[in-house]
Amino acid sequence: MKERLNKLFISRFGSKPMFYESAGRINLIGEHTDYNGGFVFPGAIDKYILAAININGTDKVRVYSADLDDYVEFGLSEDDKPAQQWARYVFGVCREVIKRGGTVKGFDTVFGGNVPQGAGLSSSAALESCFAYALNDIFNENKIDKFELAKIGQSTEHNYCGVNCGIMDQFASVFGKKNMLIRLDCRSLEYQYYPYNPVGYKTVLVNSKVKHELVDSPYNKRRESCERVAKTLGVGTLRDADMAMLDAADDKITAEDYKRAKYVIEEKDRVLAVCDALEKGDYETVGRCMYGTHEGLSRLYEVSCEELDYLNDIAKECGVTGSRIMGGGFGGCTINLVKDELYDNFIATATSKFKAKYGIEPVIIPVVISDGAHKVADDEEA
Ligand code: GLA
Repeated sequence: MKERLNKLFISRFGSKPMFYESAGRINLIGEHTDYNGGFVFPGAIDKYILAAININGTDKVRVYSADLDDYVEFGLSEDDKPAQQWARYVFGVCREVIKRGGTVKGFDTVFGGNVPQGAGLSSSAALESCFAYALNDIFNENKIDKFELAKIGQSTEHNYCGVNCGIMDQFASVFGKKNMLIRLDCRSLEYQYYPYNPVGYKTVLVNSKVKHELVDSPYNKRRESCERVAKTLGVGTLRDADMAMLDAADDKITAEDYKRAKYVIEEKDRVLAVCDALEKGDYETVGRCMYGTHEGLSRLYEVSCEELDYLNDIAKECGVTGSRIMGGGFGGCTINLVKDELYDNFIATATSKFKAKYGIEPVIIPVVISDGAHKVADDEEA
């Protein structure tokens, strides 16, 4: 990809670019907990966005998306917002750097990537983190700290893309390290790297390729439900609530909001159980919790769909240790923890049964935990 982008950049802009890269992410457990002040357990993966960039001495940003074959030019003031949705990610990052007192001047860029879109692997966070990292390096002597880079991506989603997301995706994309998952406490922002090497098991994603339209912003609605319940219970976020508090306020909360909050409260305990289990190498417990998360996301949080529930059922039938829908939901992938000896059968069964039922073959993506945002060295392949 690096060579292709290099050629495209030189033929379009005529100078020699620098390269920056940032990754998509998986999340072992802790879904929809980030904006509730809870814990998440993500890691960056070997699917990434790569950008060729050079300053251009003007006050304009000139962006070519190699994958979409689309080109946009914009200025750096708030009212220069481009019409194309994809370009707003780049524009938003520039604006958020500037709003924080950072410097951004005109630059040329060509970018591309291999993070499947709509799969729940955070292709947008990869794009934001790639540019946040690059602008920090090129114009700001790396003075913006890494957490702020993640927040720049998150604010881009909030202010320019209409998604009121938590911090998990951008955090993972910026802080990711090879072979490490990261437990992040989204209230204190303390984090800890955990080596992830489940000997005897494989971790694999099954991408249903289903992408349900997010009409009426169901993601934002889930977040609003949680915030409403937290307010009723008199806590800052649901991190500080428990089931006894929720049950005591049952008559002041709608049945729907009750279900949403119950999921979040239960998920908090599952993440902590997984941390304990990982320290003991107890992957059976990890797997049980993953199934618990799926059940909660499907029945209580209602962000799954028929196709993903079907993939989860197939995993159970095949004796897979743990399986669940991953990411924001409404389509995308399941993440599966599978014993080595059951792997081939699971993949074959999931592929053929899913195809027989829905007419499309799911995409199997082995998980490789990789580094997050960085400048690509001259001799580094990307
Ligand atoms: C999306 C959001 C994240 C997080 C997940 C669900 O990926 O961007 O902040 O809320 O959904 O865990």
